[in-house]
Amino acid sequence: MKKPRICTIGSHSALNILRGAMDEGFSTLLICKKGTAKFYESFGICNETIEINEYADIYDIQAKFDDCIIIPHGSFVAYYDLDRLMKEFNIPIFGNKRMLDWESDRRKKSELMKAAGLRLPREFERPEDVDRPVIVKHFGAHGGQGFYIARTPEELFQRINATPEEKEKPKLIQELIRGTNIYPSFFRSVIRNRTELFCVDRRYESDVDSSLGVFFDESNPTFTIVGNYPLVLRESLAVQVQKDGENFIDATKRLVPPGLNGAFCLEMVVDRDLKVYTFEFSGRIVAGTNFFVPYSPYSYVMWGEAMSMGRRIAREIKDAFDVGRIDEICF
Ligand SMILES: Nc1ncnc2c1ncn2[C@@H]1O[C@H](COP(=O)(O)OP(=O)(O)O)[C@@H](O)[C@H]1O
Ligand SMILES: [Mg+2]
Repeated sequence: MKKPRICTIGSHSALNILRGAMDEGFSTLLICKKGTAKFYESFGICNETIEINEYADIYDIQAKFDDCIIIPHGSFVAYYDLDRLMKEFNIPIFGNKRMLDWESDRRKKSELMKAAGLRLPREFERPEDVDRPVIVKHFGAHGGQGFYIARTPEELFQRINATPEEKEKPKLIQELIRGTNIYPSFFRSVIRNRTELFCVDRRYESDVDSSLGVFFDESNPTFTIVGNYPLVLRESLAVQVQKDGENFIDATKRLVPPGLNGAFCLEMVVDRDLKVYTFEFSGRIVAGTNFFVPYSPYSYVMWGEAMSMGRRIAREIKDAFDVGRIDEICF
């Protein structure tokens, strides 16, 4: 097998991914929307760029990059229809294909986190059972829209019964945890058989982080991510978070064999007693890792060299390629 090129889609964490690929000696290809190639080329990280009109155009041009491995990122799942991807896309994708299905369903997500023994916010099957503040998440909705908060059971009933559509909509009713959000990212290495705590970020979310919060209706906040900023955990918390990451990987090995590989992020809230709750996860590189080009405190301590998440992914591919194990880390 010839050494693969590394390819990603121009958005989200493409700069991070391609810089890392170049640092590991890979040739790179960027596929991006018309009008954006110039931006990416200006950084000197693309050996080749292909502009497309629509994201779905990649299906028609696969012959142009069948020597590549695709690195999926946060936008990838959003842009591409899972079914079509499975049926019509033939280029190897870094990661575990079976994870996609688990990630696209809030209930399955919770099931996996519970199987890992993580502490989850309580979930309520029936509104009648609610006895504390909750956050209501419609299936398919994202924090940018369609979430609401109810502080009391009365408020919850009012919201749910507001319209017949609202009543019918499938939703996750989840305990609202009062605390501080943390978003630790990890790297699961199949080749080195270990789970690395990589970096921790926090997210600036509009409008919950707006300085003039007094102006919005607090029961209907949005959580649209505006940016990310870095965090180091108090060390005792880092120890616990690392265990959670390892337990999560163990659960994916049992439920989604052979298990998740590569980058992932646990989305957590730490309460006043330092209890850590996990309310969501991402099974791939998150934009919070972008801050850590060229490295995070944790990745530097582990590697003693500049190691960004983009570079870590490329290093894994290089390691796998050298020992003929690429098919274990791609699908
Ligand atoms: N149970 C919870 N307790 C406290 N805050 C939460 C909880 N669930 C979600 N949030 C907040 O809402 C944001 C978006 O929720 P999340 O479940 O991650 O949805 P999305 O699919 O939009 O990422 C989180 O980043 C966090 O700030
Ligand atoms: Mg989230």
